Amino acid sequence: MIRPLRLGVNIDHVATIRNARGGAHPDPVRAAIAAAAAGADGITAHLREDRRHITDGDIDRLMAEIDLPLNLEMAATEEMLAIALAHRPHAACIVPEKREERTTEGGLDAAGQFDVLAPFVARLSDAGIRVSLFIEPSAAQVDAALRLGAPVIEFHTGRFAHLAGEEQVVELKRIADMAALAAKNGIESHAGHGLTFDNVTPVAAIPQLAELNIGHFLIGEAIFTGLEASVMRMRALMDAAR
Ligand code: PXP
Repeated sequence: MIRPLRLGVNIDHVATIRNARGGAHPDPVRAAIAAAAAGADGITAHLREDRRHITDGDIDRLMAEIDLPLNLEMAATEEMLAIALAHRPHAACIVPEKREERTTEGGLDAAGQFDVLAPFVARLSDAGIRVSLFIEPSAAQVDAALRLGAPVIEFHTGRFAHLAGEEQVVELKRIADMAALAAKNGIESHAGHGLTFDNVTPVAAIPQLAELNIGHFLIGEAIFTGLEASVMRMRALMDAAR
């Protein structure tokens, strides 16, 4: 069945909980398998420079043990490029990364970092890895992604998630307008960050979006309902929005 809007489940925070005790439980690969059974279309994992959650061993096992496509989130560094090229995941999403941040704060400056990013987009694409750039919903960033030759962009929905009322409506329109602009230029749009049961519906209703990547909320909710139920409810809300 071809789904109109794919759900990528980000399992980073299963690894966060595991790493709090340094053992093997809970296992992010088991979470990926459970998410797949509950209707996820892909698994997303961010291998950070400091390995604070996902580890190199997790990426090895995800590549070997899951059937769903893996979307590797990575900073534009030579170390991460070498890992991506060694594993050849289905997709790589280039994200900005600062050591001191708690999570990915803000999108990539694809316009300002054009020359830095260009070789990463080219080398990943040449290896057959579908590249996406995690950007803010602005025309300058969409234009830079287009010039960089990225086939996919992912809009950072963190601002949308943190706003309320009229400000949130304005930010939602910005995302919708930029998804339309990207589609007009042949770029596939995804979105993610800070999405929850309460705020996913208007984002999922944006017709040009092909994929949402959701992690922290789903893993947190899984504490109360189990991961399958958490993923199934998100999947149902996304389907209902279309
Ligand atoms: N998409 C990207 C590119 C991200 O960096 C993240 C956070 O790791 C997400 C989606 C998921 O965000 P959240 O964990 O807030 O759902």
